[in-house]
Amino acid sequence: MNNVGTYHPGLADAPIYLDYNATTLVDPRVAEAAKPYLTTHFGNPSSGHAYAEQPHRALAEARQQLAGMIGAEPAEMVFTASGSEANNLAIRGTVLAHDRTAPARIITQASEHPAVMETCRALQRLHGVQVTYLPVDRDGRVDPAALPKTLTPDTALVSIMAADNETGVLQPIAELAAIAHARGVLFHTDAAQAAGKIPIDVRAWRVDLLTIAGHKMYAPKGIGALYVRSGVRLEPLIYGGGQERGLRAGTENVALAVALGAAAHLAQTELDAGGVDRIRILRDLLHHRLDELLPRRVQLNGHRDQRLPNTLNISITGVTGDDLLAAIPGIAAATGAACHSATPDPSPVLLAMGHDPGRALSALRLTLGRWTTRDDIEQAAPQIAAEALAAHPIAML
Ligand SMILES: Cc1ncc(COP(=O)(O)O)c(C=O)c1O
Repeated sequence: MNNVGTYHPGLADAPIYLDYNATTLVDPRVAEAAKPYLTTHFGNPSSGHAYAEQPHRALAEARQQLAGMIGAEPAEMVFTASGSEANNLAIRGTVLAHDRTAPARIITQASEHPAVMETCRALQRLHGVQVTYLPVDRDGRVDPAALPKTLTPDTALVSIMAADNETGVLQPIAELAAIAHARGVLFHTDAAQAAGKIPIDVRAWRVDLLTIAGHKMYAPKGIGALYVRSGVRLEPLIYGGGQERGLRAGTENVALAVALGAAAHLAQTELDAGGVDRIRILRDLLHHRLDELLPRRVQLNGHRDQRLPNTLNISITGVTGDDLLAAIPGIAAATGAACHSATPDPSPVLLAMGHDPGRALSALRLTLGRWTTRDDIEQAAPQIAAEALAAHPIAML
């Protein structure tokens, strides 16, 4: 049992929600913390009069709470409007601030989120930046031994995600960052999916830049943040009045920043109390039940251990993920990233891991969170299994 009870108005009389990696519910405690900044405390935090005082204080506290979750200093946190914006600021900002005579190079990896991939592609198209993609193995992991030979003198940045949104696979961030630093190269990690789900310490990982997305950790959509290690130079994406240390102009969205700060504080408390273990146990129970009900038909996609505790990505042989989910309206889950789900193409992440298109098309991403109950799992597993057996009745070898 989590410490907020099993009831959330967003889930009442609705399908079982197993799509927390697409987005989380807003925790009612987060909404409560943000509310006064929508209803009462309207002042501009940069104004010089009394109306600024409370918003100014609240923004500072939110920054402190967010920094606390990742072991950073408050002054190192830049609020953005999304995880995508934070990724853009990290990558574009580093490359455009890089001293160089030749076009800079970025090293990333083959299964990154589009917010990283498309930023790299735009820099290539518009600024002649070279992009190198490290491969991932069948477990979805980057081999750190592959990094050193790609680090050329013109490399501006290595950007490798902390946790994959589709498979939950964790990358060896500390090891990769150490290799980049040994060659004087900055290191960014997209931790949009990792933040709040696993402990993060930017000093232990020794990363220079780290992305956070609010709506993956029980804050609203439309708020994110970038950790920018003190001393790292970035070119802003948005120019203007000098807010956020001059890195992100625009009057601060105090209510959403407060929400993100509150969400970070709750996430830290939950991690410290072992609340994430409850989710891991339920995730493994779901896997176990499906294995029992569909012998030899369930294949795990992604590393068994080096994985987010809430994420189960499986391929069920004999049925495509899209067909399966379409036939089970009582379960809200995904076949891959929410941003791709309109297209029936096999997941590029699973293809990058070396899986064939058939296995990739059979993928189901089942992701759990704060309001998932044992009852949800006990109901979801037989529904999924029944539909897989209806689609393909024979247990397949
Ligand atoms: C790994 C990863 N990075 C970045 C993002 C983008 O975050 P946002 O939706 O806040 O732009 C997502 C969201 O799906 C994600 O999963």
